[in-house]
Amino acid sequence: MKTQIKVLVTGAAGKSAGAAIEELLKNGVSVKALVHKADERAKKLVSKGVEVIVGDFLNFDDIANAMQGVDSAYFCFPVLVPGLLQATAYFAQAAKDAGVKTIVNMSQISARRDSKSNAAQDHWVGERILDMTGIPVTHLRPTFFDDWFLYIREEIQQENLITLPFGDGRWAPIDSADLGLAVAKLLVDPKDYRGKTIRLFGPEEYNVYEMSEILSSVLNRKITYKPVSMEEFTSITDKKGAHPHFIQHVTHVAQDCVEGLFSGTSDDLERITGAKPTTLAEFFTEKKMAF
Ligand SMILES: NC(=O)c1ccc[n+]([C@@H]2O[C@H](COP(=O)([O-])OP(=O)(O)OC[C@H]3O[C@@H](n4cnc5c(N)ncnc54)[C@H](OP(=O)(O)O)[C@@H]3O)[C@@H](O)[C@H]2O)c1
Repeated sequence: MKTQIKVLVTGAAGKSAGAAIEELLKNGVSVKALVHKADERAKKLVSKGVEVIVGDFLNFDDIANAMQGVDSAYFCFPVLVPGLLQATAYFAQAAKDAGVKTIVNMSQISARRDSKSNAAQDHWVGERILDMTGIPVTHLRPTFFDDWFLYIREEIQQENLITLPFGDGRWAPIDSADLGLAVAKLLVDPKDYRGKTIRLFGPEEYNVYEMSEILSSVLNRKITYKPVSMEEFTSITDKKGAHPHFIQHVTHVAQDCVEGLFSGTSDDLERITGAKPTTLAEFFTEKKMAF
């Protein structure tokens, strides 16, 4: 890894960004981190030698300030709330103004021109906005993260149930920490991935019935997958207070998943990181206490 560069990591309290920062620091790379709140997570980053900027993706001055003196930058906007395109436009302009040479963009596998999910279509438009900067961008389009099981851990803990609208749809779950490792490598040396869009998969493809069997085996108790319709899932997540933007997104990408858009595996992740990707069983074992 070249170390004489300065890197900006946004969404720095998130999982892929956090893992990217760990890897960059391990390799002696100078890291600036954009966090949303000056909380314990931010303090921890400061204690590790990270230059922490507290700011908002949706405030252009914050982003322009964060981008000063940076050679490469990771863009990772949360999927839970609207605002991706405003944030992307600010990030793109700030990166151009600051003379940034490399961008890594977290997109998703369902990003496409005709996606019915507003967020996934926005990811596609966001990719195009970043391309218009003329800065070489690597767009990462991963499948669903392993973290999905953490999002629904209360139900697993309390009812031994997994209630999701993915039917018999299949995908190879990916560990967002493995993605962070890939981000770190690409920020420092994008190699052949400069200007490319990469679909990224975990090592093994399953449907949710099979995933719940793996979880049952790790926990040594029966966890049952209960597939639900999009309408039922909308009602459940609405009651839990999820943002309508997120519900619109999840129900449409769930349909994509059922129709096979998420299926497949590849060795790209391993080729970028040089490490064996985390299996779902390993993820469940590591996070056993959460379930
Ligand atoms: N989840 C999946 O299965 C999946 C699959 C494929 C692709 N992706 C993509 O991965 C990306 C990251 O998704 P995620 O939701 O899991 O996020 P995340 O990486 O866990 O976190 C995003 C971070 O952004 C911070 N943040 C939120 N609003 C902000 C704002 N206005 N200004 C500055 N920082 C802000 C959050 O801070 P706080 O923690 O302080 O709120 C959080 O630390 C998304 O673009 C998504 O489409 C996700």
